Amino acid sequence: MPTALVILAAGQGTRMNSEMPKVLHRIAGAPLIAHAMRAGAAVAPERVVVVTGHGAEQVEAAMAAFDASAICVRQTEQLGTGHAVLQAAPALDGFAGDVIVLYGDTPFIRPETLGAMLAARRSHDIVVLGFEAAEPGGYGRLLMEDDRLVRIVEAKDATPEQLAISFCNSGLLAADAATLTGLLKKVENDNAAGEYYLTDIPALAAAAGLSATAIRAAERETLGIDTRAALARAEALFQAARRAEMLETGVALTAPETVFFAYDTEIGRDAEVEPNVVFGPGVTVESGARIRAFSHLEGAHVGAGATVGPYARLRPGAELGNGARVGNFVEVKEARIGEGAKVNHLSYIGDATLGEGSNIGAGTITCNYDGVMKHETQIGARAFIGSNTMLVAPVTVGEEAMTASGSVITEDVPAGALALARGKQVNKPGLATKLMARLRAIKAGKKG
Ligand code: UD1
Repeated sequence: MPTALVILAAGQGTRMNSEMPKVLHRIAGAPLIAHAMRAGAAVAPERVVVVTGHGAEQVEAAMAAFDASAICVRQTEQLGTGHAVLQAAPALDGFAGDVIVLYGDTPFIRPETLGAMLAARRSHDIVVLGFEAAEPGGYGRLLMEDDRLVRIVEAKDATPEQLAISFCNSGLLAADAATLTGLLKKVENDNAAGEYYLTDIPALAAAAGLSATAIRAAERETLGIDTRAALARAEALFQAARRAEMLETGVALTAPETVFFAYDTEIGRDAEVEPNVVFGPGVTVESGARIRAFSHLEGAHVGAGATVGPYARLRPGAELGNGARVGNFVEVKEARIGEGAKVNHLSYIGDATLGEGSNIGAGTITCNYDGVMKHETQIGARAFIGSNTMLVAPVTVGEEAMTASGSVITEDVPAGALALARGKQVNKPGLATKLMARLRAIKAGKKG
C-alpha cells in the first residue's frame, strides 16, 4: 500500500522568540522538520507534503535544499490542524493509499512507530498515535472503549473527568487519503478555540460507521519543541542517546558527555574520539581512526587508522586516506589527503590533492583563492614540502619532489626536483652589533 506524509509546519512558534520559523531550528545539525522527515523516509513515502504558513518562504527554501521532492503547500491562515491537513488535499490528488500526518516540530518520532501505525491500519480506518502523559496538561485526551478510539477531546473543551485521563494525543494520525479528505471536509470550528480540529476525525469516522483506534508510543518520542529551553533539552536528549549508541557499537569515547554528534555522524568500530570533539553534518570516520581532543569536523571522511588533531578542523570535502595524519592547528577543506600522508602542524590545505606518503611541513599554506576564483594544488606521492611553503595555486608538485622551507611556489615542480623559491641569505659580519649600538644611542638621546 503506497504511503504519503503530510507534515504540519505552519504554526508560528511564538515562544521560540525568533525570526526563524520554529521547524527550522536545529537539533544535531538538522532542522526539526528534517528529523521528522528522516523518520518518515523509512516508510518509503510516495509523496511528502509539507504544510507551510508562518515563514513559508524560509521553510520552502530549506525544503528545496533538504528534500527537493517534497511538495510545499501554504496554509495562509492558521485555522487549526484539521484545516492545515485539508490544505494538503490538492497535492494528494491522484494518490491512492495511506496518509500519515506528522508534526514538523516533533523530531524524535521513530520509524518503527510509523510502521506500527501503518500495521494497525490493517484493522482500523483511522489510527492515532497516543502516549501516557506524565503531565497531561493541554494535550488532547483519547477516549477509548477497549481498543476503539471513540473520540478525542481537546483539553480546552474537556470535562474535569475527561481531564483526568492521561492517555493523550500526540497529533500523529494515519488514514486512507480519500477517507481522511472526506472526513476533514465535515470538520467544523464550533469549539472553545474556534479552530478546525484534526482531532474531530475519530468521532466523525465513528459516525460514518468507520473504526478508529489509538496505539501507544513512549512520551519521549512524541516530544514537541515550543521553546528554546525545550530545544536545548531535546539536543541533550539526542546527544545522550547517540553517545550511548556509539559506545554500544564499539566506538571509544573517553569523555562521552563532551562529544557532540550530528544527526548523520557515522563512526566505525574501535575508532577513538577524545574529549571535546564536535561533529557537524556529513562526517564518516572509519575503524581504528583517532580523533584527538578539541577537533571540529564537518562534511569529512576519515580513513581507517588515520589521526586527526588535537585542535584540527576538517571542513566539507576533506577526505583523509587510511593512516593519514592531520595534526594540531591544521585546517583542511575540499582536499584529499593520500594514504599515510602527513600534515602535522599549523597548515591550511584547501582545494588540493596530496599523494600518498607525502609530508607537508609546518606552516604550509595552499594559496587557493585569488579573490575571485578557487584553484587546485596537486602534490605527488611521497613529495616533501618544506616548512612555511606557500603553494600558489594552480600548481603541481611532482612525485618525490621537494620544496625548500619558506618557498613561495608559483610554478609547477617536476617529479624528483627540489624547488628553491626564496631570497638568498647574505651575512654581513659585525653589522648587527653596530646596528644595536646605534639604536641604543638614539634611544638614550631621546630620553636626555
Ligand atoms: C494538538 C492537538 C492535541 C495534541 C497536541 C500534541 C489538535 C486540535 N490538537 O494541539 O490534541 O495533544 O497537538 O502536541 O490537533 N499547525 C498548523 N496549522 C494550524 C495549526 C497548527 O500547521 O492551523 C501545526 C503547528 O505548526 C504544529 C501542529 O500543527 O506543528 C500542532 O499545532 P498546535 O497548535 O501546537 O496544536 P496543539 O494545540 O498543541
